[in-house]
Amino acid sequence: MTDRDDFLTSSEVEGEDEERVELSLRPQSLDQYLGQSRVKKDMSIYIQAAKQRDEALDHVLLYGPPGLGKTTLAFVIANELGVGLKSTSGPAVEKAGDLVALLSDLDPGDVLFIDEIHRLSKPIEEVLYSAMEDFYVDIVIGEGETTHAVHVPLPPFTLIGATTLAGQLSAPLRDRFGIVEHMQYYTIEELEEIIQRSSDVFHTSISPEAAVELARRSRGTPRVANRLLKRVRDFAEVKGEDTISFETTSHALKQLQVDNEGLDQTDRKILRTLIESYKGGPVGIKTLAANIGEDIETIESLYEPYLLQNGFLLLTPRGRVATKKAYLQLGLPIPQED
Ligand SMILES: Nc1ncnc2c1ncn2[C@@H]1O[C@H](COP(=O)(O)OP(=O)(O)OP(=O)(O)O)[C@@H](O)[C@H]1O
Ligand SMILES: [Mg+2]
Repeated sequence: MTDRDDFLTSSEVEGEDEERVELSLRPQSLDQYLGQSRVKKDMSIYIQAAKQRDEALDHVLLYGPPGLGKTTLAFVIANELGVGLKSTSGPAVEKAGDLVALLSDLDPGDVLFIDEIHRLSKPIEEVLYSAMEDFYVDIVIGEGETTHAVHVPLPPFTLIGATTLAGQLSAPLRDRFGIVEHMQYYTIEELEEIIQRSSDVFHTSISPEAAVELARRSRGTPRVANRLLKRVRDFAEVKGEDTISFETTSHALKQLQVDNEGLDQTDRKILRTLIESYKGGPVGIKTLAANIGEDIETIESLYEPYLLQNGFLLLTPRGRVATKKAYLQLGLPIPQED
């Protein structure tokens, strides 16, 4: 049933159409947003209540590892509220004036989405406090003798902040969010559904066995699932397969060096460094980061949560330790305990 005319070839997907494909992969409503059932259940109640009271939704903090759908959920929330959304990120807001401009541009009830909110500078964070609490900002304008404070009232709005490192958020900022949601890794069944939905968007088809295999190796993460699906589809297209098969999927994942637990090269490098250079640990994060050539934030937000959750790594007061499971996964001899 594939119509070649509207079949997206790989180069189209990778090229200028990538953004369009990325957008069409994004669910628009809570119904289309798969998984995260607890977060969804909470949010649908809060959204309904805010709509009934005709008030702005309380401020929402979404935190969890990269690629779990924080940005996607922020857009879904605005859609469900039927309000507009303005989007920025912590590092992009350089001056207090940038923030005030964004805030005063909102219509009542709108969402301001700040990605990587843990990276806002302290002075800008402080401007946010009164904006979040009482919908005003006091700014100082002019220089020297003409300096004066201006009180700027703001429309009621909802701040949605997203962060991969909730621990780096200051307590005063964290406390000003009425709703705090921790995004979880997705189950294999949920990822399978996401993969089937994405393959519809790509106008391709994938066998159920292949979809499960991909789901198992996607680190519990929709972004990884979508990325692997694109690559696997390349292999299937070159082979002339109409439906992506289990065999092609296994072969492609092997080529991509994604192992049976979904660990990629960097995951394995982290474990191997711990084991081979530091006898399994404990090792501090700085030493580890320097050794494998990744920055600390990437290791802490992207790699470690998955390795910890799946029992390859332990956090101790003295640093990271590789577990027996890590030795087994890499096929390395487990040291004798004495
Ligand atoms: N619940 C979901 N259902 C279907 N697809 C999803 C879901 N969550 C995320 N995705 C897909 O996964 C990709 C990554 O999602 P998103 O960009 O929202 O993650 P993120 O948590 O904001 O990541 P980062 O921390 O890197 O900003 C998107 O392409 C989106 O389409
Ligand atoms: Mg995001």
